[in-house]
Amino acid sequence: MGNRKRKTVVESRSVMHRLVMPEDSNTLGTLMGGVLMHWMDMCAAIAARRHSNTYAMTVTVDRIQFVGSVRVGEVVNLEAEVTRAFRTSMEIGLRVIAENLDTGEKRLCASTFYSFVAVDRHGSTLPVPEVIPETDEQKKRYRDAEERRTARLEDAGRIREEAEAFNRQQP
Ligand SMILES: CC(C)(COP(=O)(O)OP(=O)(O)OC[C@H]1O[C@@H](n2cnc3c(N)ncnc32)[C@H](O)[C@@H]1OP(=O)(O)O)[C@@H](O)C(=O)NCCC(=O)NCCS
Repeated sequence: MGNRKRKTVVESRSVMHRLVMPEDSNTLGTLMGGVLMHWMDMCAAIAARRHSNTYAMTVTVDRIQFVGSVRVGEVVNLEAEVTRAFRTSMEIGLRVIAENLDTGEKRLCASTFYSFVAVDRHGSTLPVPEVIPETDEQKKRYRDAEERRTARLEDAGRIREEAEAFNRQQP
């Protein structure tokens, strides 16, 4: 780890704004969850790529709860940044804030964590720079990332067993 490059959280920061159009909505005139998840994945991927400066593949998305709906004509602000890097994987924290342009009201709609793995053009994993947390909030997220990663890897073990059992049954 001695010569490993180090980067701050801010260096990976990714911010996106989307005006919700009718084609993004469901039949109630509110933003479709799938469209929002696509934007979330893009925003998180940009943060992962900024940190790693290489290709980044989504490995996990933690629980997503849509706290409130977003109406057509409102703006969705997405903010993502790396919270911690391990060897080849990175945790990205993301939050989604809806904004009413008429009133200026802003509402938190969703927040979650993504895991990305850095890969080369052939899909082989690559080491990523370490993260330097600077603020108290960044330091807390950095510390807590270890526990979240352990929980994800436990899940991954169970899911892998399920996949192997399914694959064994195939002709
Ligand atoms: C990402 C992928 C290349 C990793 O392959 P792998 O055989 O698990 O590789 P490794 O075991 O070396 O794991 C690589 C890293 O991923 C981490 N990882 C693997 N599964 C994980 C999970 N469920 N949650 C968090 N991290 C995970 C490992 O801990 C390791 O991180 P580290 O190097 O920082 O310790 C492989 O799982 C893959 O191709 N998945 C599909 C990705 C994809 O198609 N995404 C959707 C579209 S982009």
